[in-house]
Amino acid sequence: MLLHLSTWSEIEAYLARSKTVVIPIGSNEQHGPTGLLGTDWLCPEIIARAAHEASADILVAPTFNVGMAQHHLDFPGTIALRPSTFMAAIGDWARSLAHHGFTRLYFLNGHGGNVATIDAAFSELYAEASFAGRSRGFALKQRNWWDLRGVGKLARDQFPAGHGSHATPSEIAITQWAYPEAIKSANYAPQIAPSGPIRESSDFRRRHPDGRMGSDPGLATPEKGGELVKLAVQGLIDEVKAFGADSAP
Ligand code: NI
Repeated sequence: MLLHLSTWSEIEAYLARSKTVVIPIGSNEQHGPTGLLGTDWLCPEIIARAAHEASADILVAPTFNVGMAQHHLDFPGTIALRPSTFMAAIGDWARSLAHHGFTRLYFLNGHGGNVATIDAAFSELYAEASFAGRSRGFALKQRNWWDLRGVGKLARDQFPAGHGSHATPSEIAITQWAYPEAIKSANYAPQIAPSGPIRESSDFRRRHPDGRMGSDPGLATPEKGGELVKLAVQGLIDEVKAFGADSAP
């Protein structure tokens, strides 16, 4: 089910049989000369919706599509939340869903820069329940889509050189598979971009003039994206099922 295409009564009926909801979460930020600004939220959304199409009983919430992108702000189109805002927003999303009775909130993440802050937001929510002396009884989990079973290995096999860490061929391949009408091309110079630390936005643009980090997005193809999505979907369905049964690690 897709939450945004459901009615409240359909969600009420779903809650009678499951307390688990999947929330795609990412970032709206530059992804080099050919990567879509939405890449980091599109990838988890594409995978979660494909899982919904493959499995009758998985509920997918609207995509949380902004995150920790301050270092990309010198590239037009990037929209960033500061960590405190991001944590506050994640908290209210989770509180809203918990209010309805969801007790298993699974965030499928598409942006490495989000990980620490999502974990901190989870810690705040758990602390809130502990200090209040009451258990909400909920469990919060985040998983990067590239860490789903077998996906990282497939990406390394597909792109043994030039994968890099930002505007990677794997994430761009997934968006190419889902949105072939939005495929872009460019001449990359150098073919594999430099790597470097992540600090503030002017420093980032100076080190990474076209926005890529260590990657050659020219290696991406829609076919490779389709292979990644297929594997990710199976991993997601299995993991969400285990999480719902509270047997996940
Ligand atoms: Ni990305």
